[in-house]
Amino acid sequence: MSIFCVGQAAYDITARVDEDIVPDQKYRLTTHTECPGAPALNGACVCGKWGASSYLVARIGEDACGTIIKNQVRSCGVNLDYLLDAPGVSTSFSFIVANGKTGTRTIFNFPSQSIEANVRFPEEAPDVILCDGHEPEATIAFTKRFPQVAVVVDAGTCCESTMQTACVSDYIVSSRAFVEQYTGKSLPQDDEGIVEVLHALGEINPGCKVAVTLGPEGLVYLEDNELVRMPAFPANAVDSTGAGDIFHGAFAYGLSRGLSFADCLTLGSMTASISAAKMGSQRSIPELDEVLDALEAHGIAIAGLR
Ligand SMILES: Nc1ncnc2c1ncn2[C@@H]1O[C@H](COP(=O)(O)OP(=O)(O)OP(=O)(O)O)[C@@H](O)[C@H]1O
Ligand SMILES: [Mg+2]
Repeated sequence: MSIFCVGQAAYDITARVDEDIVPDQKYRLTTHTECPGAPALNGACVCGKWGASSYLVARIGEDACGTIIKNQVRSCGVNLDYLLDAPGVSTSFSFIVANGKTGTRTIFNFPSQSIEANVRFPEEAPDVILCDGHEPEATIAFTKRFPQVAVVVDAGTCCESTMQTACVSDYIVSSRAFVEQYTGKSLPQDDEGIVEVLHALGEINPGCKVAVTLGPEGLVYLEDNELVRMPAFPANAVDSTGAGDIFHGAFAYGLSRGLSFADCLTLGSMTASISAAKMGSQRSIPELDEVLDALEAHGIAIAGLR
């Protein structure tokens, strides 16, 4: 059961400021959190923490942030043998302002340089590939090498690189921002409008399954061509940073364990809601048992995961 997470790794410094930021003000911070972050990395940490053979395929520099990331990610059980080989690259990092009153966050990200990276492949095919649109060349190289493997894309922003990876994905699980950028309009409220949007998303790679996550409003997807609205599990959200990344990590883990599409979405949803109640992204990943207990408390049993 191996999951390869291809995409971005970053170091996140999160400050909590429980009010709207306005120019020319000074804000005194009472708390801050530092930890590794970014979608592929967080997804890999969920899978590693839950005992899967989890591999991160990302560019990480030989610098201080890179060293901390590697140590912490390894301690989550993530294997780094297949990191992208991009000599001289510096590690991506982010400043994040989290508003603990609203549960929202604003991210300022310095990306790594996009110099060409060398991709290394395992001998055996992975069970699942989770990609976040940040390393399209590596993602496509993996899908060509292992054409039978299920590919999940965490489609966050509708840019060229995410579209390239979505085109080779069997599961397009996108954010509201992605679909709104893709369709060029706000997500409709009515069932008919949402179904139309989900169909449009499905045309990116015909035959793929699609869902759109809507933060605290939950998510929408199609089951036998019928619209399903899955509400979010209630959370006392203080910092939703990485909720989507953690959602996708749990989703990919579920796929690797043979769960149905709907069960993977439910598992992702509960995992993300628990994580939103804690500061930091990678630091807020719950244990699998905690997620299964919380699901059971809602009367939902997912067989075969204990
Ligand atoms: N405040 C919240 N309360 C409860 N559940 C949440 C909350 N925020 C997110 N979730 C859960 O996580 C899922 C994914 O969140 P969201 O749609 O915000 O992802 P995203 O847009 O990719 O954001 P990001 O990747 O930046 O975290 C939602 O569908 C929901 O199930
Ligand atoms: Mg996201």
